[in-house]
Amino acid sequence: MAEERRPAARAGAAALRTHAVGATLDRLLVDEQARLGRPLRVLDLGGGTGGLAVHLAGLGHAVTVLDPSPDALAALTRRAAEAGVADRVTAVQGDADSLGHAGTSDGTSDGTSDGTSDGTSDAALDGPYDLVCCHGVLEVVDDPAATLAALAGVLEPGGRLSVTVAGRLAAVLARALVGDLDAALAVLTSDDGRAGSADPLPRRFDLPGLQRLLDGAGLAVDHLQGVRVLGDLVPAAILDDPRRREAYLALEEAATTHPEHAAVLGGLGAHLHAVARRA
Ligand SMILES: C[S@@+](CC[C@H](N)C(=O)[O-])C[C@H]1O[C@@H](n2cnc3c(N)ncnc32)[C@H](O)[C@@H]1O
Repeated sequence: MAEERRPAARAGAAALRTHAVGATLDRLLVDEQARLGRPLRVLDLGGGTGGLAVHLAGLGHAVTVLDPSPDALAALTRRAAEAGVADRVTAVQGDADSLGHAGTSDGTSDGTSDGTSDGTSDAALDGPYDLVCCHGVLEVVDDPAATLAALAGVLEPGGRLSVTVAGRLAAVLARALVGDLDAALAVLTSDDGRAGSADPLPRRFDLPGLQRLLDGAGLAVDHLQGVRVLGDLVPAAILDDPRRREAYLALEEAATTHPEHAAVLGGLGAHLHAVARRA
């Protein structure tokens, strides 16, 4: 995941990020389950070791995790078994390019699959899906626009896409605050939001750029917001104190929903979260 402005705050800040995205997703899941009258069918692209997938499966939804890392998928499988949700979690090894085999919105498969040599099967990509999650992945795929188009293609009509990406402006501030002004300028002005060729992250995003990408995939954006706007700027001790943590969460909520200031503050999120819908 993206870099931290203040390493000592890492544990607390990461939990806060999960809180903000999780709260939005939990509301969405309740609404969509009510709309559909059944648990959701979910695809988690780049779902890694399955923190999100196991949570969703615990709520009764059926989740397929598509990830290129066999180690991550092995951890996911163990985690799902330990949580007693293995029957609702499917691990599929593959990457964004595998999405062409995930079935189409009319419920058909493209029929290319008879299984693969590593024991995984394209047929396990049993789309279309009611919800697709793509968290922390668009930064690293070869072509984010193509990935979003493919994800849109495996959504049911009316289905939702949840995307989180690393925020460019937070990385500008992080570098400026430590005096690395050349890197700050590069992150701000480069096409890909990188600090230079040694930057470990292939790209970062800003709110207008993410909006354009989602528009380009033909998706209607319902929610677009920075998350963890201030979490890396406050002292770690504050984030470790449960009472002040509550105060922080209220501040973060206000910063990202304020009718006049959210547009500015939200753009500073260490991560950006979008929820979009297939028309
Ligand atoms: C930063 S982790 C994010 C994990 C999880 N989604 C989360 O939010 O915590 C990125 C994940 O993307 C996976 N990944 C890397 N390249 C990918 C690709 N081309 N297509 C799909 N997933 C990819 C990695 O294996 C890893 O699990």
